[in-house]
Amino acid sequence: MRHIISIGDFNRKEIDALLDHARQIDQRKYDKNVLYGKILATLFFEPSTRTRMSFESAMARLGGTSLSVGSVEACSIAKGETLADTIRVVSGYADAIVIRHPKEGAARLAAEFAAVPVINAGDGAGQHPSQTLLDLYTIRQSMPIDKIDVALIGDLRYGRTAHSLALALSLYNARLHTISPKGLELPATLAAELSERGMEIVEHDDINEVICDLDVLYVTRIQRERFPDTASYFNVASSYRITPELLVGAKKHLIILHPLPRVDEIDPRVDELPYARYFEQSRNGIPVRMAMLMRVMQ
Ligand code: NCD
Repeated sequence: MRHIISIGDFNRKEIDALLDHARQIDQRKYDKNVLYGKILATLFFEPSTRTRMSFESAMARLGGTSLSVGSVEACSIAKGETLADTIRVVSGYADAIVIRHPKEGAARLAAEFAAVPVINAGDGAGQHPSQTLLDLYTIRQSMPIDKIDVALIGDLRYGRTAHSLALALSLYNARLHTISPKGLELPATLAAELSERGMEIVEHDDINEVICDLDVLYVTRIQRERFPDTASYFNVASSYRITPELLVGAKKHLIILHPLPRVDEIDPRVDELPYARYFEQSRNGIPVRMAMLMRVMQ
């Protein structure tokens, strides 16, 4: 079965093929009814705007339909049903399942019990492969991905978008720069895996140290919902902010990405600068997720 659980399960050739396909879709080169009669179930146990809506929009653009429970409170999980049982049941109603869950490893577990392909739309602090594919797609629109300098700034401990992207970039000989508040550094196990994959990782205390060398600046939100208590969140909240002043001296072709939603980590004045690509990035979720849906259901 063609599940999509972690970007770590893909090699560079497979990723490039999917991105090439997304490019063709973007150029309107696809059959609008290719998934006619197919049903996608979206099971979101955490909030989402972009991921869920863009999967549903992608499905509709391919002639298929989507089903979902309104919210976790409105479905039988609230009655104590296990994830395994929910997945077994939903497998009988749909041709593929997109799942987002607060626990790391939940999507992999779901895949074990599913009779249809499962796509991970975010599992706790784990992985977020569809986001990574659209991140790579957006980078590729501006520059060849090979050997670029990419900075990840923000909550690198809990941020699954950062974890996923770092893994993927290790396939493209990128140099990774990390900047995070104290206690929110990249998990040691992931850093070790990246080094094993041959990636050079440089940690910085301050973004000013590196801003002029970057090709891509990937900004993430501090994940308030993953902190054990409010006090530990407020210790690090608002500890970094990208402003136009910070960007003086940046490379002309620098692009700034953010998976969104943003809170206060990018000054809205940055939106007007040519560096800002985050809204275009979220739009790219459509062709990329269309390519993913075709991959698992065709
Ligand atoms: C991200 C997520 O859910 O991990 N959002 C998204 O899918 N675009 C990032 C976040 O919530 O901060």
